Amino acid sequence: MTPDGGTSGPARVEEVLRTEQISMSFGPVVALRSVDLHLKRGEVLGLVGDNGAGKSTLVKILTGLYRPDGGRIYLEGSEIRFRSVQHARQHGIETVFQDLALVDELSVYHNLFLNREQTCGGWFRFLNNRAMRVSAKRFLDDIGVDILSVDTPVAMLSGGQRQAIAVARAVRQENIKILLLDEPLAAMGAKETSLIIGLIKSLSKKSNISIIVIDHNYTHLFEICDRINVIQHGQVTVDKNLSEIRLEELIEFMVQSFRRDVAMGGAKRPEIPSSDC
Ligand SMILES: Nc1ncnc2c1ncn2[C@@H]1O[C@H](COP(=O)(O)OP(=O)(O)OP(=O)(O)O)[C@@H](O)[C@H]1O
Ligand SMILES: [Mg+2]
Repeated sequence: MTPDGGTSGPARVEEVLRTEQISMSFGPVVALRSVDLHLKRGEVLGLVGDNGAGKSTLVKILTGLYRPDGGRIYLEGSEIRFRSVQHARQHGIETVFQDLALVDELSVYHNLFLNREQTCGGWFRFLNNRAMRVSAKRFLDDIGVDILSVDTPVAMLSGGQRQAIAVARAVRQENIKILLLDEPLAAMGAKETSLIIGLIKSLSKKSNISIIVIDHNYTHLFEICDRINVIQHGQVTVDKNLSEIRLEELIEFMVQSFRRDVAMGGAKRPEIPSSDC
């Protein structure tokens, strides 16, 4: 059975991910009430919502870090329960978290091969630095990441370049299907932002990777995404293709919702939705 009760068939082939009624609480705090979401192959889905709406919690569930209290996750039509981040990774789900998990002292190419180092030699194995260097350079060129030298320690890179290396590392996984990005553009300058926006676009269009991206800047999301979902009070309340909603409408909707929440005494302090850099 497919999630909607039908049998699996060609109509669902393009859908890589679906969640149904995902819920999660932390003690008395209900982070997710009932999240229904879907993601197509090669699609970029933007998740927006006020602070505390539950976006990061959802990403942590999809990446196997948290187990939801209820609901179902379907990957390419089959129900799955992720046991760990490693388990989700085995199924082609990669996440770039805010801390990026790069090792500052190591070079760009060592970071790209972290825990998957290439070795050479017989009885005594050596790191095959030459091969890793060449392969790292080629890979970064392929996905359009321009770094002066792959020998540079990542500590010396800009925030945008570091983010690009973290994304590149995630998408180097052979079986990657879904990339989850939690606020990849936070605190970035204009140049760095355009580097990451270009990278996200090219990964979805050229590599057919499906991407979920969380950001508070709606202008950026309108540049990157094919579809936008709004999460409010732990639920998806708006699901629109970009052709169905204008930037101004989204901003107006979010502002009105916030005012309504304030009037009802339930609003948390929001991050102001921004429409510029
Ligand atoms: N580990 C945790 N322990 C307790 N409460 C948590 C935990 N993680 C999240 N929460 C709570 O769950 C709710 C949803 O948090 P979450 O981080 O998912 O929101 P968010 O939409 O990502 O917000 P932001 O835009 O600020 O990043 C919030 O009320 C938050 O305080
Ligand atoms: Mg968050």
